[in-house]
Amino acid sequence: MEAKLKELEERRGRITAGGGPKRVAAQHDKGKMTARERIEAFLDPGTFVEIDAFVEHRATDLGMADVDAPGEGVVIGYGTVEGRLVYLFAQDFTVIGGSLGEMHAAKICKAMDMAMKVGCPIIGINDSGGARIQEGVDALFGYGNIFYRNTLASGVIPQISVIMGPCAGGAVYSPALTDFTVMVDKTSNMFITGPQVIKAVTGEDVSAEALGGARVHSEVSGCSSLMFDDEAATIAGVRALISYLPSNNIEDVPLVATSDELTRSCPALVDIIPDSPNKPYDIRDVIQQVFDDGAYYEIQPLYAKNIVTCFARLGGRTVGVVANQPKVLAGVLDINASDKASGFIRFCDSFNIPLVTFSDTAGYLPGVGQEHGGIIRHGAKLLYAYSEATVPKLTVIVRKAYGGAYIAMCSRHLGADQVFAWPSAEIAVMGPEGAANIIFKKDIEEAADPTAMRKEKIEEYKHNFANPYKAAARGYVDDVIDPAETRARLASALTMLLGKRETRPAKKHGNTPL
Ligand code: HXC
Repeated sequence: MEAKLKELEERRGRITAGGGPKRVAAQHDKGKMTARERIEAFLDPGTFVEIDAFVEHRATDLGMADVDAPGEGVVIGYGTVEGRLVYLFAQDFTVIGGSLGEMHAAKICKAMDMAMKVGCPIIGINDSGGARIQEGVDALFGYGNIFYRNTLASGVIPQISVIMGPCAGGAVYSPALTDFTVMVDKTSNMFITGPQVIKAVTGEDVSAEALGGARVHSEVSGCSSLMFDDEAATIAGVRALISYLPSNNIEDVPLVATSDELTRSCPALVDIIPDSPNKPYDIRDVIQQVFDDGAYYEIQPLYAKNIVTCFARLGGRTVGVVANQPKVLAGVLDINASDKASGFIRFCDSFNIPLVTFSDTAGYLPGVGQEHGGIIRHGAKLLYAYSEATVPKLTVIVRKAYGGAYIAMCSRHLGADQVFAWPSAEIAVMGPEGAANIIFKKDIEEAADPTAMRKEKIEEYKHNFANPYKAAARGYVDDVIDPAETRARLASALTMLLGKRETRPAKKHGNTPL
């Protein structure tokens, strides 16, 4: 037995050494950890249990018969994050560039299957040259199997992709099918076709970083949910994200203890809204006042900044917050904001996370670019996502809520369970200036002093219509509240709604606008 144990130790040692000291040093020189170091840093100390370490490829073409690939270039297994079970895989760039062959993919699929079986999140750490060229269609078969499982797991267990190196070609579609894609600034990139192919096909000259680096995907394409400065910060960020999520679609998120009283008054909210309705302010100041301990966790903070999507807690319970951001583009709804918010709402609904919406938007962004870009189709996603969501839905109309944007921001008409309005709310078909110009056009034109008449009519419209009371008179707003009471009222409503049941017509699935 002793000899056999020695052999086991030697075999395992060869596998855990990955691609060997030279390649490990090259990885470190790039500011990157190895797959195993990343797993160790990510999980609670000492909890990682590796499986499938002894899997080997069976490729023979293009010289592969003689190639030794320790661990098949990917490390898989399970462990805990703050005591909660997760499955994970980490591609090992030191072994054939972390490239994905048939058996490499089979390992990833096993981790995904196990996560589905036990109902825990799956975390994928990507660092790979993509399909292992020598394995041809077997590699493509492997990718297809992963994409299929990503889709089956969607809405069942949280899926998080962490990009810590290259992620090229069709490989990017696994992260794109998952719930969150997290990137490391400067050392990660994602693209379908790389700089060389682009140069050959379109003649464009672009670096990998400018084409598909973390910043580009966080600010421009919206393909990245979060970006961090380095690997350690990324790992800490993903661990924090997991704390807001349930393990699966039938378990609740564990409550997080807080000493923040549910009935705490928020007097600072009274002064947050500027006197002039056209003055901006930061909606995150409102969010920070309302939720437990002033904490919130923003998703896509650098993309479509005119809308804020974040997780926060109320009485220790995770909620998903969607809020117009008056500080950016007057909080308008545009194509990117609609996409960002809809994706977030659908995630929250899939995982039974209640939604809290703060509405203060100047409306939909006008412009040829928006119309030709399909704002009709993209804006519809938001209506669909809110209407489809059956989780508790709470809305606070803080200031402007006009026209279609009023409806879209989780109005009563899309199924909000409780709608509160601050006295500063302006709920109407359109803003006072535009409305006065149209309905009082004749009075203004015929007045001795058109400017004074226009001003008077705007004031008249504001007084009569741009307030919360018309909507409250119809019951579209459940109550007009003192902003200071916002936390207490939301908390009470959330508690009241914990037993919410809402049935929908039986169907295979809806056809969400895409
Ligand atoms: C086989 C690969 C590989 C791949 C890298 N390697 N990518 N082997 N298949 N796809 C190997 C290299 O030959 C090298 O082996 C080792 O990994 C490290 O790679 P380097 O090139 O030395 O590293 P670096 O200079 O850091 O460059 C990394 C890289 C580059 C940018 C990722 O390797 C690269 O461009 N790779 C190809 C990327 C690509 O086009 N993949 C296919 C995408 S298409 P040695 O032995 O020399 O150390 C695709 C289709 C999927 O994925 C479709 C799914 C639907």
